[in-house]
Amino acid sequence: MGSNGAADDQAHPPSSSPLITLTHPTPAELPKISALSHPNWGGALTLQDYLDREDYMTTVPLSKNGGITHWLLTLASSPESDRPILASCESIKKRAFYTTPSGEVREGIAHGVASVFTDPQYRGKGYASRMMSDVGEKVRTWQLGGEDRPVVFSVLYSDIGKGFYSKHGWAPFQSSHVAWTPAEFSGERAAGVKTIGYHELAELCAVDERLLKERLAKMAKADGGKKRHVALAPELDQLLWHLMREDFMTKHIFGKTPEVRGAVYGEKGRRVWAVWTRGFYGGLRTTEGNTLHVLRVVVEDEDDTPEEELVEGFKAIVEIARAEAKEWNSEDIQMWNPTKVVKKLVEKIGVEYEFVERDKKSIASLRWYGEEAADEIDWVANEKYAWC
Ligand SMILES: CC(C)(COP(=O)(O)OP(=O)(O)OC[C@H]1O[C@@H](n2cnc3c(N)ncnc32)[C@H](O)[C@@H]1OP(=O)(O)O)[C@@H](O)C(=O)NCCC(=O)NCCS
Repeated sequence: MGSNGAADDQAHPPSSSPLITLTHPTPAELPKISALSHPNWGGALTLQDYLDREDYMTTVPLSKNGGITHWLLTLASSPESDRPILASCESIKKRAFYTTPSGEVREGIAHGVASVFTDPQYRGKGYASRMMSDVGEKVRTWQLGGEDRPVVFSVLYSDIGKGFYSKHGWAPFQSSHVAWTPAEFSGERAAGVKTIGYHELAELCAVDERLLKERLAKMAKADGGKKRHVALAPELDQLLWHLMREDFMTKHIFGKTPEVRGAVYGEKGRRVWAVWTRGFYGGLRTTEGNTLHVLRVVVEDEDDTPEEELVEGFKAIVEIARAEAKEWNSEDIQMWNPTKVVKKLVEKIGVEYEFVERDKKSIASLRWYGEEAADEIDWVANEKYAWC
């Protein structure tokens, strides 16, 4: 420490100090916060495009109209116009479902916490830790939807392993994926498979939500209400958040936006479908960091659709995803935490795949605000759509 140690302690006090507070950044501070993280997360965009994207992402479904909250850890006594950005993050309010001990499926609120960041000059001083413990408590009662819609949990996706966030209450959950390589498709498309565009999503999401709630009720019944089965709503706004982010990225990287957002196979009532989004960290420079993420897979009638039909449909969907990934300069296709039924389809379609258990990146983590311990929580539909 130099000769101005006392002044430095005042400007950057220990993380436990009451001089430090959790608040919200001003509009003038937001681009400063984004600029700090550009080297980490903005590789596929210029700094200006990255700043514009972060701004744009406050105007899309889910985050618009106050759905997103920006959080800032700073000094309580400093003026807003000149205060240090000790650490920052954001939370997005989402609809969630959970089962009660009596087996009912209820709706509540979950917050998705993201973009946890400390300026390199302030790292290792406990500021992110302080922010996470403050934010974790704060969102417990944040944006309540009335007494019948409590905040039931919050989620985040750790890129720094399982230790840091679990210390602050977010337990790591299943974080695996199936990976396929991109490949052009020259064969004939199976009859009965159709690509999905924006306009098909509303109906698919409504069906998905209904089926998911039925599944949660079944699970609660099967275990006699022992576990809390929880899920984030796979609703239209949740998917649009991803697709509009994708539109911004592809427009700035490729000068165009994609039309194919997924694929669906089969007759209504016995369909199988997948919705996906393209994520870019490498841009055009390299495929590294560019992934076509399957956001959600739905098998409409798992019990009564003949397996051969599901296999044929799923194969056709994967072929389209692989061709899209090839066209959009992606390194791979990832499908997170498939259900037993979907995993069986993966094995049967005859397309080579890798099964990856992640231990460092994108660790799905959940903090439950009820009495139950993490091992009494069953995170259902723990798929990429819930990511932010
Ligand atoms: C991760 C980050 C937010 C930590 O901020 P910080 O203010 O230095 O954090 P703290 O001082 O409160 O705590 C540091 C802890 O984080 C751990 N940590 C930091 N970077 C890590 C990494 N890349 N992998 C694993 N652990 C890491 C440290 O080992 C330390 O652990 P300890 O509490 O057991 O000593 C900061 O390094 C950062 O902004 N990194 C770049 C962006 C990023 O990766 N954000 C997280 C996205 S999930």
